[in-house]
Amino acid sequence: MRSIDLLDLLMTSKPGNSIESILQEERSFSPPSEIADSSSIGDLKIYQEMVAEAKSDPKAFWGKAALSELHWFEPFNNVLDWSNPPFARWFDGGKTNISFNCLDRHLSTSRADKDALVWEGEPGDVRRFTYRELHREVCRTANALKAIGVRKGDMVALYMPMVPEAAIAMLACARIGAPHSVVFGGFSAEALRDRLIDGEAKAVITADGGFRKDKAVPLKTAVDAAINNGACPSVESVLVVQRTKDPIDMQPGRDMWWHEVVSAQEDECLAEPMESEDRLFVLYTSGSTGKPKGVVHTTAGYNLWAHLTFKWIFDIREEDVYWCTADVGWITGHSYIVYGPLSNGATTVMYEGAPRPSNPGAFWELIQKHRITIFYTAPTAIRAFMKGGRSVPDTYDMSSLRLLGTVGEPINPEAWMWYREVIGGNRCPVVDTWWQTETGGVMISPLPGATPTKPGSATLPLPGIEADVVDSLGQSVKVNEGGYLVVREPWPGMMRTVHGDSKRFRESYWEYLKPIDGKNIYFAGDGARKDKDGYFWIMGRVDDVINVSGHRLGTMEIESALVSHQVVSEAAVVGRPDDLKGEGIVAFVTLESGTQFDDQLINELRAHVASEIGPIARPDEIRFSDALPKTRSGKIMRRILRALASGEEVAGDTSTLEDRSVLDKLRS
Ligand code: WT7
Repeated sequence: MRSIDLLDLLMTSKPGNSIESILQEERSFSPPSEIADSSSIGDLKIYQEMVAEAKSDPKAFWGKAALSELHWFEPFNNVLDWSNPPFARWFDGGKTNISFNCLDRHLSTSRADKDALVWEGEPGDVRRFTYRELHREVCRTANALKAIGVRKGDMVALYMPMVPEAAIAMLACARIGAPHSVVFGGFSAEALRDRLIDGEAKAVITADGGFRKDKAVPLKTAVDAAINNGACPSVESVLVVQRTKDPIDMQPGRDMWWHEVVSAQEDECLAEPMESEDRLFVLYTSGSTGKPKGVVHTTAGYNLWAHLTFKWIFDIREEDVYWCTADVGWITGHSYIVYGPLSNGATTVMYEGAPRPSNPGAFWELIQKHRITIFYTAPTAIRAFMKGGRSVPDTYDMSSLRLLGTVGEPINPEAWMWYREVIGGNRCPVVDTWWQTETGGVMISPLPGATPTKPGSATLPLPGIEADVVDSLGQSVKVNEGGYLVVREPWPGMMRTVHGDSKRFRESYWEYLKPIDGKNIYFAGDGARKDKDGYFWIMGRVDDVINVSGHRLGTMEIESALVSHQVVSEAAVVGRPDDLKGEGIVAFVTLESGTQFDDQLINELRAHVASEIGPIARPDEIRFSDALPKTRSGKIMRRILRALASGEEVAGDTSTLEDRSVLDKLRS
């Protein structure tokens, strides 16, 4: 991991929450009585009691929650084994299955014929599944997986558009104990191949394509490009959902149509009793090195955390219609489109498309049409809507909404206020939820019936979560002083390891900070402040990860992609504040001698990054230079590049620069 220059980073202006805006922010909103009066956590005192209970006896607190919230084939005999930190074991001895918890257990209740999944395709086609129907589809798919040779413990990769089959496939994998690895459909064939190889996927589930922004986006062709000619020897079969009906190649013996295989199966498939610590899924995310990490989550702890957090944060009620706009390719889709809502017996809405010039009000239309009550989206989307003006949302009836959430990046107070006023009609609480792929579920968030909210703050840690803001020795910093965001104690939804690299897990998360008391604390990679009320204000990443429109990208991944192009000799990538996207990507590049630098090369390099990683990683700007600013020991001084990229004065000490003329050249 590259070293982190914390103060440098906290000093460079970040989009969203600048230090000034936090210190000046004094607005506060109490939970509305309509929510508080009927919520099980309808008062800050109840929250505080839960916090105290969890603190005084964490094992009793989590053990009680696990018994009351999940179904167990066999009860656990140990709540937490933390004898070998940071490798935690939760609920050892227990047997459970998340697919059973999301489906079967609701069938004996009045929920059996309630909508579990309501899906809307971009062209406007709608499909609904009651719990009974979803159970049948998942069972058939689970049988289909068995029929094509997938066994308990085999990794199954999903590379899917936002269609119901994506959720069905996840639940089917979980049902038979085959860990899934969902790869976001916007990643390139190259990125898919890396993830298939790292996870040794035995099967791939994909589709011919999906509809997004009025276009048919192909997927199967990328799967072919990733695995053809023996590039991924572990992959034995490919199951293809028919969505766009565009022509694709089907390789006999390897590729099969979903509708042909699944429809031939029995309607019943018993859920496999899984050990608590059996792997449920691997999900790749970007870190400080070039190679994405496979974050490992296991069965019971993840299930409990997705379930409890969904229940607490969205104050879920039987009649709610809940919609999260994320993609199932990200952790938000895993925890808050699929597992959290279904484990709670809620109605979850899934949308294939996105707002687009032909329908900028697509989201509001969906809220009006399906009478959505809870809406969960990203600050980037809110900022884009804000720019489009309130006249678009104002033409829709959104009176069904009672609760709004945001996730993925810091939300600036103006966007928060706009969301509350224009979308929430000043009556819906806004919950700003801070968490990560690694945490499995939300960690810091208001509880809508209990926590007074402040625009731009994720407010307080959930019960049982020992979050803090510390210095590099693990000591709590003073009120409003910036520091590292950490978690001091294990929690059920925590990642268990990095797939195939436990050393990296230990070093990058649990040993990065060196507390004087020798204890391991979890370092999230974010900077934060805590105000006088103990409220957390997240400042953004302090490592080499940037957040572009809520998508997490490693600057080193983009650098590796750039230097893999033959004319690039060196590259350094930094983020720069962007009003809409949160951060934009700026690349500084030196070229092999004799290379002609022009607009055509810029376009070529941008396209090259898109094909190596995916369009989300395409640099907004590429600057060429003869040399990069380095220290005498050869370290690139990113602080200088960040300042240059955002058009700021290069502040601070530059005396360690090896060649000061580089700076002048870069400036000009
Ligand atoms: C990073 C994790 C968690 C699901 C989506 C992203 C940033 C996330 C917030 C928030 C400020 C946030 C952090 C974090 N982040 N939520 N409410 N306020 N920043 O998951 O891809 O694993 O990214 O997203 O920087 O570390 P992810």
